[in-house]
Amino acid sequence: MVQERVCHQDDLWDGETRMVHVGGRPVLLVKMEGRLMAFQGWCPHQAYSLEEAEFDGQTITCAAHLWQFDGMTGKGINPRHARLKTFRVLIDAEGFASVEI
Ligand code: FES
Repeated sequence: MVQERVCHQDDLWDGETRMVHVGGRPVLLVKMEGRLMAFQGWCPHQAYSLEEAEFDGQTITCAAHLWQFDGMTGKGINPRHARLKTFRVLIDAEGFASVEI
């Protein structure tokens, strides 16, 4: 298991995303409803990077073939069987966020 500090929780606005790397692996950070979530940084369809994915504040849409995922849970919206792996986000007393993978 690897845990790395990735940003301060205030670095992202609600509805914003950022690609970071933890243990050398791409991780997509998503800020939604004041919470920071961390997902695998590649699409489960054909492994396209989610760096260029669109996020409308609720739904992550892969730029390649438009598969969609819930920004809070990573569950597939279209198609429903898809899912983004989620990682634990830890916020320290000073507000810095670490991701555990
Ligand atoms: S690679 Fe993401 S939808 Fe195809």
